[in-house]
Amino acid sequence: MGENKGLLQLREITKVFSRGTIDEIRALDNIEMDLNAEDYIAIIGSNGAGKTTLLNVIAGVYPPERGGKIIINGRDISGLSEYKCAQYVGRVYQDPHIGTAAKMAVEDNLAMALLRGKPRGLRAASNKQRRDLFRSALTPLGLGLENRLNALVGTLSGGQRQALALVMATISKPALLLLDEHIATLDPKTAQIVLELTEMIVKREKMTTMMITHNMELALRYGNRLIMMHKGRIVVDMNQEQKSNLTVNDLIVAFERASGEAFDDDSILLRRD
Ligand SMILES: Nc1ncnc2c1ncn2[C@@H]1O[C@H](COP(=O)(O)OP(=O)(O)OP(=O)(O)O)[C@@H](O)[C@H]1O
Ligand SMILES: [Mg+2]
Repeated sequence: MGENKGLLQLREITKVFSRGTIDEIRALDNIEMDLNAEDYIAIIGSNGAGKTTLLNVIAGVYPPERGGKIIINGRDISGLSEYKCAQYVGRVYQDPHIGTAAKMAVEDNLAMALLRGKPRGLRAASNKQRRDLFRSALTPLGLGLENRLNALVGTLSGGQRQALALVMATISKPALLLLDEHIATLDPKTAQIVLELTEMIVKREKMTTMMITHNMELALRYGNRLIMMHKGRIVVDMNQEQKSNLTVNDLIVAFERASGEAFDDDSILLRRD
């Protein structure tokens, strides 16, 4: 495979917290991964497996350690600041409060998202052009947000706010969308709606997506690839075909085989529902 093939390449990604102290934690241990354009990857794994840290490294929150490389669309982004990485990477967090600003209007949140990581030259669009763009991005959500451009985000429901966060993460069309348990705090009905909106946006924008979830059913149902992490490593990596006929129990067996540990709901905490 040539160096420029594929959308994302991770090479030797290691992250150690508190190195050299008694609290040293190897959160990521030499992760290697290749994503193709339009891949939709579900990532599961026990608490503390390193899932969020992996997204943090890709998004430039932490630089990868010595020798680690992150390549997006053939461009080496290792060591770029989080702000610069935002040109390439959109992100939705578990907590809707993190992705959106409560005291700003819907429109201003979207304007901020549109400009994130973009050079100044792209700030020239007129207000009318921007509003049209925002309306056309919000209308397909079916939540009526296109008529609430002036509403403060703090007045939206959790689901509306997370749907807005999704639009904000994708409006500047980054190469990669990172979702970190973005439906985990929503009630089941709202979670399902936001999940379907995710599916719609990912398909329409042809986004390459990494979605962390604790829900094994979801990980089997959504996306074309499933990755399981454990203690900073990728222990299971299945393609669409391999995961298509699996049950949650099969996944537990795969986890036990790969990790060498018994699946224990209390300590492993991969929720089954
Ligand atoms: N900023 C930090 N400083 C110190 N240790 C950290 C930091 N961030 C994460 N860790 C540690 O790194 C390990 C991996 O954490 P991470 O948040 O990536 O796990 P996770 O797979 O996302 O877990 P969860 O399912 O609970 O969200 C954990 O042991 C965690 O305590
Ligand atoms: Mg996490």
